[in-house]
Order: sequence, then structure tokens, then C-alpha cells
Amino acid sequence: MNEFYQKDIFSIKDLPKEQLEKIFTFTDKIMQLDPSDRREICKGKTLGYLFFEPSTRTRLSFDAAMASIGGNSLGISDISSSSTQKGESLADTVKIMSIYSDVLVLRHTLDGSSRFAAEVSEKPVINAGSGTEEHPTQAIQDLFTIKKEKKKIDGLKIGIIGDLKYGRTVYSLLHGLGNYDVDVRLISPESLRIRSDSTYEIKKKLNFTESTSLDEHIDELDVLYVTRIQKERFPDEEEYLKVKGSYVVGLDLLKQMKDDCIILHPLPRIDEISPEIDNTKNAKYFEQAEYGKHTRAALLGLILNENGF
Ligand code: CP
Repeated sequence: MNEFYQKDIFSIKDLPKEQLEKIFTFTDKIMQLDPSDRREICKGKTLGYLFFEPSTRTRLSFDAAMASIGGNSLGISDISSSSTQKGESLADTVKIMSIYSDVLVLRHTLDGSSRFAAEVSEKPVINAGSGTEEHPTQAIQDLFTIKKEKKKIDGLKIGIIGDLKYGRTVYSLLHGLGNYDVDVRLISPESLRIRSDSTYEIKKKLNFTESTSLDEHIDELDVLYVTRIQKERFPDEEEYLKVKGSYVVGLDLLKQMKDDCIILHPLPRIDEISPEIDNTKNAKYFEQAEYGKHTRAALLGLILNENGF
């Protein structure tokens, strides 16, 4: 039996390197398949989504992924129009959604929400973002993007810049990168350094340095992963205003980078990458969003087919 069959996806930490590489192999397969063959993979299956926080890419890419492999999707993306407004619990909402679907995708404000959902769901649960904790399918797409665009992950120098305190994609990416031999440079304002409760675990698997200066690293990087300052997670707006606009990647900065350095961003972006970067050969964040559809299709195909596809 395929080891992903009916598997919950809570954290990138639950996926050893062999399993990540298997998802990448099946993503390549999905991308090469004839569309009519691809539509056989999850024919007749239903994805149910519950988004308690806003989303563009994650929800739409799951939706597009399911359609590309022949399945369909239903769900709630505007929680204010659901019966949670009448006081229905998360447990009951999840239970109901799991009755109507074959796999459930959950985004929620609370850390640990997907693990809780899996306790009541009759179907596998995929974490599509839980609080400031994790966003495992984003990390899968990020690692796949690096592998596709740089032809390898091992040996790369990777800068991760921006809001490292609240950005859940960063935590999932760091744990994912822990499976590879990489040199990671974390760059952030002092107040947005990676949370100290996570560094102990990450340090066991990953070499990284911390700095407030991008200039120190910019000419050495193979990958620059930019993140948004997460305004909505600051307890105090004054604190947000102090760090707003701390780093902006523009053409001046691009001139200092290695010619083949790629720029990634989980998106949405606010002002941390100038639009003038978009048409350069270094900008790969829209390709990254496209790979997200294919990696999610591969994951769904593996979760929903006992013998893979
Ligand atoms: N990268 C990401 O999670 O984007 P959305 O918030 O639009 O889903």
C-alpha cells in the first residue's frame, strides 16, 4: 500500500526526506501526464475545504489541483456565511464536512487546529495553515520549486528574509530544509527573529545564521526567499509600524545578487518585492504558485489512491 493513503498532513516534520522526494516524483509525473489520464486519478472524489482565515493561493490551488485530477471541491471560505455564526463548534463543522467529502483541507487561526480536526474527522485532514505554527503544503511547493529551478537543493545558500517570527511558511520551510545539506541565512528585523522556542529543534537538523543585514549575504545567495510582514498577527499596531517596509527587494538589490539567484515568495506580497522585479529571470514566485497546484494534486492523488497512481 502507498504510505500516503488516507494519511493526515499536519506538519512537514511528519514527512521524512524519502516521502518528500516521493511527492516530488509524483508531481513530475502529474505534470507530464496527458490531461485526460490525469483526470482519472481522483475521478469521482470530493475535496472539502474549511478556511477560517483568508486565502487566495492555497484554497484556489487545492481547488484547481482537485479539478485537474478529475475530482471536485466544495467548502466554506467565508466563515461568516456558515453556521459557526450560530455558534456551531469547530468539531461539528469538521465532522459535517468530512461526511460530505473524501479529504478535508483546513486553514485555521489556531496552532494545532488540524490535529484537533483529525480527531473528529472521518476523512484525512490536510493542514492548509494553522496559526503561526505551520503551512506544510506551502513548504512542499517551496522545496519542489527550488529543486525544479536550481536542479538541486543540497549545497545551496538560501536567504530567508522578512517576518520570521509570525510567518508560518518559514517554520515549515526550515523543517523541510532540515532534510538537505544547505546553508541558511535568516535575515529579519531584531523584533521579528525566529521564535526561540523553535530554534532548538530546527538547529538539530539545519545550519543557519541570523542577521539583520541583507547586505552581508546578498552576493552569496542561490535562493532569496522573501516573506511579508504579517500585520494581522501583531498584538500592537505600533510594533508593526516600527518594522513595516524594513526590506524591499528592488532592481538595485538585484544588481548585487548572483546572476542565477532565484527570488521566491509564498505570497501575498505587500511592498517587499518591487513589481519591477516580476519580469526578471530571477523572479520565480509566480512559477512557485503554479507548482503549488501540481504538488497539491500529487499529494491528493497519493492520499486518495491506495496503490498510488
Ligand atoms: N501562500 C499562501 O498561503 O497564500 P494564501 O494565503 O493566499 O493562501
